[in-house]
Amino acid sequence: KEEKLLILRETVRNIPDFPIPGIQFKDVTPLFKTKESLSNLTEVLLDEYKDKGITKVVGIESRGFIMGPIMALELGAGFVPIRKPGKLPAEVFEQEYEKEYGVDKIQIHKDSLSKDDVVLIHDDLLATGGTMYAAYKLVKDMGVKKIYVNFIIELDALEGRKLFPKEIGINSLIHYDI
Ligand code: PRP
Ligand code: MG
Repeated sequence: KEEKLLILRETVRNIPDFPIPGIQFKDVTPLFKTKESLSNLTEVLLDEYKDKGITKVVGIESRGFIMGPIMALELGAGFVPIRKPGKLPAEVFEQEYEKEYGVDKIQIHKDSLSKDDVVLIHDDLLATGGTMYAAYKLVKDMGVKKIYVNFIIELDALEGRKLFPKEIGINSLIHYDI
């Protein structure tokens, strides 16, 4: 596993000054590009969750929609999308969160989860944690049995994980000290 993680780490591409000057953008697309990398990524992402009885993987639009459904299929679970406003057609619950400039919102279908669900919420990246914390609140307020959270990448210096209660197992494969 350690070997695979090292290779995955080297596969993430750093793009300087994207989307604005001064930002070192972590591009995850090379992780999905080859069958070897996609399969390694899937394997290490699932490592912790095979015996947890996960019934639903919740993925956050957009970049949580890539590995979310793959993990769901491998775990024998269903997939539920959390989307940006105005995209989900049926009745939704909505949560606001702080972005770099102003507030944003995300939504989930009201009938997508039930109290018997064991949920893994997935996104590609933990930065400030605003996005995932909003997703966590949405899922928590729906009264599910248990919540796990995982990411491909975590930017440790932004301390996003501090927003979450200790008992939530938050897992990130690749950590950056920025
Ligand atoms: C990025 C990333 C995470 C979020 C992390 O998504 O994919 O979802 O930001 O930031 P945070 O921890 O500070 O909230 P973005 O909103 O840029 O949209 P995208 O996934 O549609 O590209
Ligand atoms: Mg995103």
